[in-house]
Amino acid sequence: MTRPLIQNVLAAQPPEVVRAEGVWLWDAEGNRYLDGCSGAVVSAIGHSHPHVVRAIAAQAARVTYAHRGAFTNAAAEEVAARLCELTGFAGAWLVGSGSEAVEAAMQFALQYHQERGESERTVFLSARKGYHGNTLGALSASGHARRAAVSGIALEIPALPTGDALRDHGDRTEEEYAQAMLDEARAVIAAQEDRLAAVLIEPVGGATLGASTHPAGYLAGLTELCREAGALFIADEVLSGMGRTGTVLACEQESVAPDIVAMGKGLGSGYAPVAATLVSQKVLTAIAEGTGVVLGGHTYAGNPLTAATALAVLEVLAEENVIERGREAAVMVRDALEALAREHPLILEVRGRGMLLALELDAEGRAQGDAVREFASICMKHGLILYPATGGFVDAVIVSPPLTITSVEIAQLVQMLGSALIELAGAREEPQPAPA
Ligand SMILES: Cc1ncc(COP(=O)(O)O)c(C=O)c1O
Repeated sequence: MTRPLIQNVLAAQPPEVVRAEGVWLWDAEGNRYLDGCSGAVVSAIGHSHPHVVRAIAAQAARVTYAHRGAFTNAAAEEVAARLCELTGFAGAWLVGSGSEAVEAAMQFALQYHQERGESERTVFLSARKGYHGNTLGALSASGHARRAAVSGIALEIPALPTGDALRDHGDRTEEEYAQAMLDEARAVIAAQEDRLAAVLIEPVGGATLGASTHPAGYLAGLTELCREAGALFIADEVLSGMGRTGTVLACEQESVAPDIVAMGKGLGSGYAPVAATLVSQKVLTAIAEGTGVVLGGHTYAGNPLTAATALAVLEVLAEENVIERGREAAVMVRDALEALAREHPLILEVRGRGMLLALELDAEGRAQGDAVREFASICMKHGLILYPATGGFVDAVIVSPPLTITSVEIAQLVQMLGSALIELAGAREEPQPAPA
């Protein structure tokens, strides 16, 4: 039998969530869970923050929707101004999801070249392992198990090397590893001749590679290769942005200045579906001096209610020093995870940056993805939610609690994680039933 509400796993019947506050969620049975991954790495400021809740109610009482073709609104103007001030970009295009932000980034890149008379630049390149969203363009660019959903009609995009989880660079130093990746990227880019529109990259791996970082120097080198090829560099910071890795954009830590950035998740922080494409002056000027019209847009984009919600999130981020607090809390979480890894041989690696961390688990020969799904469900029994990276390449669970998590809550998280690891080790030791 199927049910009216379609879930990814049709037979799944997860508990019903009824309330949330800070890092905690409660289900209808009264069970409490620590949100150890901010949902899908979303809730940067924690749940039910009173400032955001009040802002939503106040905006809802005034005006929730007016199409941007007829009206602008103060909240959308202010969100864009703040995002530009925080990141140094010239403009922000508001949308409703990370996938839309990536699609818009790709369209801005195409339009940039068209406006400059280079319409033949239509090729995008992305990493062979990565995730950029669930719409056709974004999914085409994703080296992720989900891409199978559009196989046959997907564009051939993922072709660049990836800084692999588990750092399988053999005997090479990190520098040599970065250089080898750049040599490969140079050849792939050169093969596109003058058809390359842009390279699209996650600065830190998310849903596919579980918080893996590129070898130092790779992103800066890749940006340079794009410039030399006359192509744009798009950073997908949907997951890594809004302070998740310790700075507003993860690219800042690599001294990389993208031409376009896609962001989402932490911008709405779970209070509203809102995302943005940040566009550099270079790209906006090409459009302003050309047609002056951005093609595209979504019905709900920049509406007063979601814009007011994003603005309230940005206010909390600024007024409560959330990014700085997250940086400090992340050091505590990482230290604790490394201590757990020393005790539990099932953890092969602790990796990540800032509060985007992951544990690579020993899958002991299980089918890829099974071990992390099993572990995430054991964690849930212990009251801890973690996010399995199920893109098809690693056995990692993402640990990315709200940036506002306190030291007491970190201790609770670690304690639950420890209990779950003991249970996992016990389950592995139990004799498996003989095949029928
Ligand atoms: C790096 C990255 N880009 C894009 C997306 C797509 O965002 P959304 O699910 O909001 O459409 C995701 C979602 O996980 C992501 O991690």
